[in-house]
Amino acid sequence: MNTIHQLKHKLRKEVLDARIALPPHVVAEKSARIIQTLLKLDEYRYASTIMTYLDFRNEVQTGELVKRVMADGKRVAVPLTDPASGMLTPSSLSFYPDELEPGAWGILEPKPRCVRPLDPSELDLIVVPGVAFDRRGNRLGYGGGFYDRFLLRTGPEAFYVAPAYEMQLCDSVPRSSQDVRMHCLITEERIIRIS
Ligand SMILES: Nc1ncnc2c1ncn2[C@@H]1O[C@H](COP(=O)(O)OP(=O)(O)OP(=O)(O)O)[C@@H](O)[C@H]1O
Ligand SMILES: [Mg+2]
Repeated sequence: MNTIHQLKHKLRKEVLDARIALPPHVVAEKSARIIQTLLKLDEYRYASTIMTYLDFRNEVQTGELVKRVMADGKRVAVPLTDPASGMLTPSSLSFYPDELEPGAWGILEPKPRCVRPLDPSELDLIVVPGVAFDRRGNRLGYGGGFYDRFLLRTGPEAFYVAPAYEMQLCDSVPRSSQDVRMHCLITEERIIRIS
C-alpha cells in the first residue's frame, strides 16, 4: 500500500463514518436544497440527456432529480455496474422506480429486461457521486476507480456535477494521476464552479 492509497483510505473512512451518522431528516432536507440548486443550473436547463447515480447509504438523494428530469421531458440514464470489469454502463430509464432493483452492493440499477444502454458520448450532464471533494474539483470515490474510468469515455462537452454535503468538502483531497476532476460541486450552501 503506498502513501496516497493510505491517505485516501483514511479520509474515505472518516467522511463515510460521519455521513452515515447523519439523521434521515437532515439527509432529506439538505438533499432537497442541493437538488433544487442543481435544477437551476444552465447546464441542467440545456442538457438533453442526464445521467445520475442512484443514492445509497446517506449519499445526497437523487430520487427527486430523476422525477424532475423525466417531467421536464429530458432523457435520464442511470449507471449499471459490472464489478468484474470495473465498468459502468449508462442505461436509459423510462419508469422510476419500477424499472429498478438492487444490484451490486445493493445499489439500485435497472432490472435486466429494462436495460437500454446509451453511449457515454450521448451524455450532456453527469451527476457524480463521491465521498469527499475539494475546491479544485478533486474527488475521492469509493476506491474502485469506476467513475475515473467511466468519465474518460464521455464526450468533450460533458459536464460533471457532484452533489455533496458541506461536511464532504475538504481542504485538499489526495489526488492520483488518473483521478478525474469535477466541473462543479453543489452543497446545501453554495455552488462551487471549478475553472
Ligand atoms: N482510468 C483508469 N484506468 C485504469 N485504472 C484506473 C483508472 N482510474 C482508476 N483506476 C484504478 O482504480 C483504482 C481505484 O482508484 P481510486 O482510488 O481513485 O478510486 P475512486 O476514485 O475512489 O473510486 P470510484 O471512482 O469508483 O468512486 C486504482 O487502483 C486506480 O489505479
Ligand atoms: Mg479516483
